[in-house]
Amino acid sequence: MTGSGRDRTKHAKLLAWVDEWAAICKPDNVYWCDGSQAEYDRLCEEMVQSGTFTRLNPEKRPNSFLARSHPSDVARVEERTFICSKNKEDAGPTNNWMDPDEMRAKLKPQYDGCMRGRTMYVIPFSMGPIGSPIAYPAIELTDSAYVVTNMRIMTRMGQAVLDYLGEDKFFVPCVHSVGAPLQPGQKDVPWPCEGDISRKYIVHFPETREIWSYGSGYGGNALLGKKCLALRIASAMARDEGWLAEHMLILGLESPEGEKTYVAAAFPSACGKTNLAMIMPPGGFEGWRAFTVGDDIAWIKPGPDGSLRAINPEYGFFGVAPGTSYDSNPMAMDTLKPGNSIFTNCVLTDDGDVWWEGMGPAPKHGIDWKGQSWTPESGQPGAHPNARFTAPASQCPTIDPAWEDPAGVPISAFLFGGRLSKTFPLVYESFNWNHGVFMAATMGSEATAAAIGQAAIRRDPFAMLPFIGYHMADYWAHWVKMGQRKELKLPKIFRVNWFRKDENGKFIWPGYGQNMRVLKWIVDRVRGRSGAVESPFGLMPRYEDITWAGIDFSKAKYHGITDVARAGLQAEAAEIKQYFGTFGSHLPPELEKQRQELEERAGKAPEVWSAAAG
Ligand code: OXD
Ligand code: MN
Repeated sequence: MTGSGRDRTKHAKLLAWVDEWAAICKPDNVYWCDGSQAEYDRLCEEMVQSGTFTRLNPEKRPNSFLARSHPSDVARVEERTFICSKNKEDAGPTNNWMDPDEMRAKLKPQYDGCMRGRTMYVIPFSMGPIGSPIAYPAIELTDSAYVVTNMRIMTRMGQAVLDYLGEDKFFVPCVHSVGAPLQPGQKDVPWPCEGDISRKYIVHFPETREIWSYGSGYGGNALLGKKCLALRIASAMARDEGWLAEHMLILGLESPEGEKTYVAAAFPSACGKTNLAMIMPPGGFEGWRAFTVGDDIAWIKPGPDGSLRAINPEYGFFGVAPGTSYDSNPMAMDTLKPGNSIFTNCVLTDDGDVWWEGMGPAPKHGIDWKGQSWTPESGQPGAHPNARFTAPASQCPTIDPAWEDPAGVPISAFLFGGRLSKTFPLVYESFNWNHGVFMAATMGSEATAAAIGQAAIRRDPFAMLPFIGYHMADYWAHWVKMGQRKELKLPKIFRVNWFRKDENGKFIWPGYGQNMRVLKWIVDRVRGRSGAVESPFGLMPRYEDITWAGIDFSKAKYHGITDVARAGLQAEAAEIKQYFGTFGSHLPPELEKQRQELEERAGKAPEVWSAAAG
């Protein structure tokens, strides 16, 4: 590795911090990344030589690579993820906590010499357009070239960030090590990582805005701009500064008349966020266009006119590969087409392409994610279920023209959803802001195998359960407080559920592109031009309020996904009572009031409420 690049900044605090960590981690070299294509190409080639990367067939996947992780290092490690606030109480009941001083004392010895035989890369990066009032700059130190190359796709990275930082601007310091020092003469392995799970740590210090990650090379644990900074640390910053850092996609919907409406939507991991972010309007919606701003994270700050302005802090997509196909998400497939992408834990086909389950016809033979010869008959999945693609957002054919606007895009509606096979209707709008916060705070998905005594719904409030950097109920209070700010033009709030099933266990709603019908109703509600009726859950479209051109979906079927049973309502109100009990005195009274109102509406509801009866 050549040149240190240390002379490319005069930021004294940054230089001192890098020196401090170099002294602790004891790398052979310290290399400051400039973010150039030449640097990226060189690192990729080095990883091809070391066996970390396989170069894919340039005709099929130009400038693209496949990596195989260690079989134990394939996902986020929630049980090893910590929020180290000064007071335990501030981390809340949903996070792992350790005293910050204790954590530092515990981890410093692990970092001592952890980069021996390796290079420490200094990655300057910006979450959001550099210099945007909604964005934040950061620096990640890492001993993984895989991390550097992924960070160049996922963030705005390199010299421009150092230039922006000048001599003294604030940055979020992030430290990452795979935790695999090399002894002199020891040969490296393609995916070095700490094997012992008890030595893995994904640590956040919310008060001092710092991140320390040790022992994993997996995206969510190692690309520290994403979940660690853009959600956990940023949520604490957002609370202190009066904005929102959310696990939300951002989507722009343009009518045939050219009117543009932006919505932001939160769903738990693996509920189709990337698909919805890249939705293609179905037949019957000629002239409508959908544009992608982001597929995972939204940073939302009040603009000068009081509207809530959102940016996608990321620069690329780190998408789940299995299940992605020209049927489920053609825009994601086309995003990958120009190449410039990194694939992790996919099948390598014999002609140098990648494949995964759900992409389409399987190759007759390939190399599976563990590096073994594989055939579809082997009875084993070829790709890991959490195999990923890392691809530049700019390559998405539906990327929004304003996706890099430093001022952000104005959000008119928030959507919250989960996977629920019964009780919850296709879509409903909140009666008011606090009701919307209640709807989001109590969202979740069905527990797949409900154990005895376990609630039927696994709550994932705001889809933030693994990503909140402080006390969950204080976060709800922050949302309630946003609603009290008179100067703000507040978006409307909706719950959606694409996953209701019939008595044979079949999904009733076709989903995917057909979700556009629900989005159009939402746009029309925001614009004050579509009807709704009051249901015990919230305001719901009648059959005639939805646009049905281009699909044969009967009124009877519609009622199958919108009817509300009193027993279901009552069970929900009772379950939420138990759930809220776990948050003690932090629970905002406004949300308990909403729960009581739901209970009251349930008590007065007919046995089966139907939009047909209105
Ligand atoms: C993700 C997740 O990777 O939510 O985006 O887990
Ligand atoms: Mn996510």
